Amino acid sequence: MTTASTAPSSSSSVINDRASDRETLNRLVRVELAERSYDIRIGTGLLDAAETWQGLPTSTSALIVSNVTVAPLYAERLSRALAPLHRKVHLLALPDGEEYKTAETLNLVYDRLLGEASDRKTVLYALGGGVVGDMTGFAAACYMRGVPFVQVPTTLLAQVDSSVGGKTAINHPLGKNMIGAFYQPVRVVCDLDTLDSLPARELSAGLAEVIKYGPIADAAFLDWIEANLDALMARDKAALAWAVQRSCEIKAQVVGSDERESGLRAILNFGHTFGHAIEAGLGYGEWLHGEAVGCGMVMAADLSARLGLMPEAFVARIRRVCERAGLPVRAPALGADRWLALMGLDKKTEAGQIRFVVIDRLGSARTQSAPEALVREVIAAHGGA
Ligand code: NAD
Ligand code: GLY
Repeated sequence: MTTASTAPSSSSSVINDRASDRETLNRLVRVELAERSYDIRIGTGLLDAAETWQGLPTSTSALIVSNVTVAPLYAERLSRALAPLHRKVHLLALPDGEEYKTAETLNLVYDRLLGEASDRKTVLYALGGGVVGDMTGFAAACYMRGVPFVQVPTTLLAQVDSSVGGKTAINHPLGKNMIGAFYQPVRVVCDLDTLDSLPARELSAGLAEVIKYGPIADAAFLDWIEANLDALMARDKAALAWAVQRSCEIKAQVVGSDERESGLRAILNFGHTFGHAIEAGLGYGEWLHGEAVGCGMVMAADLSARLGLMPEAFVARIRRVCERAGLPVRAPALGADRWLALMGLDKKTEAGQIRFVVIDRLGSARTQSAPEALVREVIAAHGGA
């Protein structure tokens, strides 16, 4: 079965009209979702700039949710910048790591909110990577049936993907991101300066999600990534600004037309079906999410080629760009049966049929099932059998 999906081709959601913003690399991307629309602010020096936070809801209290790694780096500055908006700004530093993306950790957020007698006007700020962002968003969705929250992503992965689009979740012992809600933030603030302190391995993991947007939605963006990969790896701010902006534009357009993933939004999971099997098969945390997505994209590119949709050269191209981004491209040898069982647990699986995001031409993706024999060939070809 095949679900055709049309990928966006233009960048109409971007609004960059101030000369001073262009000079400072600052950009604005709008996520259009009727009454739930919001801005993504991208640039340098955003954390401390008063105007970054103007227009957000004011309240008696706010809670910055971060973790023990990120809070010492940026929480004080954020807290100072928020002082004009909230009489009290509290900070909660959660333990750091995917293994803490749990109901127990989530309860720490509710404990703190209730302990401070926070009301339904309290604003939550998620300061950190995707783990903090997903958990804070879910806490905001549930506390008093919904309070406003702001995403302040500090990893490249979170700036280009997880902070945008309103997917919030925690893990369950039986599955990753299985308990959650669609709940949009009221603003996303991507301060590129926070990426200066990001470990190199995390930067590479974020690049996987940047690379993803080329094959699924914008062939010219893939060309640009290949030409500018060294600058991105060197954290050149101008290169990062465009990478984050273009990624957010594409994600905003996809989410704007399919917020709850009834079709098109699934293309954002290119490489993720294979990738999730790697993460689950090795145990979460062994490979970073972005690393698994990188290797998964090489395998999904290969599946697209074996289905006759793309030329063989496309597989080599995706492998090369992932390798250059510092991502692993050899699949772990989990055994083909285990790969298939793990991929069957993917959220896209329908009536027992595993569904893959495949590329049908550069810049266009769709979801479909594939003959098991072909999937086994892919697993074997990349070292997974
Ligand atoms: P992460 O949140 O674990 O952050 C990676 C590491 O970098 C952590 O140790 C963190 O403390 C540290 N860190 C964060 N910012 C830093 C900074 N500026 N300087 C130094 N260290 C910093 O991982 P991630 O890759 O950001 O996010 C992965 C999570 O995102 C997964 O749980 C995944 O399921 C989720 N995700 C969600 C979506 C979505 O749409 N909601 C999309 C993709 C991924
Ligand atoms: N990261 C996939 C999505 O937001 O849908």
